[in-house]
Amino acid sequence: MAGKEVFALQINGTRREIFAPGDATLLDVLRDDLALRAAKRGCNQGVCGACTVMVDGVPVRGCLTLAGACTGREVTTLEGFADDAAMQALQEAMILSGGVQCGFCTSGMLITARDLVAQTPVPDEPAIRSALSGNLCRCTGYVRIVEAVTDAALQLARQKDTKREAVE
Ligand code: FES
Ligand code: FES
Repeated sequence: MAGKEVFALQINGTRREIFAPGDATLLDVLRDDLALRAAKRGCNQGVCGACTVMVDGVPVRGCLTLAGACTGREVTTLEGFADDAAMQALQEAMILSGGVQCGFCTSGMLITARDLVAQTPVPDEPAIRSALSGNLCRCTGYVRIVEAVTDAALQLARQKDTKREAVE
């Protein structure tokens, strides 16, 4: 284990200083030092996607990202999306569709899906499956998760249309 260092990280809009080993991963720091436990430690080797968080607006594997490499960058975990309308729509759709079973994969799925609907407002099924292909789920068989993302994306697109019509 490397010697300990102080890292100054911007996490969910707040500057946090952490004293952790120089080789600590972002996932280690989030879960073990900051008690932000939405991101899960699954494989811990970059395969399952359970640890997915956003760094500078891009989904990354927390287990493969050194905490020190995030100095000066904006880290957003699922906890940081508490007031985000798109994330709320995705969470509700996941619950309603039965896309949450044990829940272990859910945080990573939601972060990835949130990024997808930001990039592609109404993604089709192949686009959703492709986007989520790096997030593994042992429970659902994916069908309900794909349905949830489809439903949430449609709902968000409708809300956007309604708002635009109200302004016009
Ligand atoms: S815990 Fe990071 S990809 Fe599995
Ligand atoms: S809901 Fe259990 S791993 Fe996805």
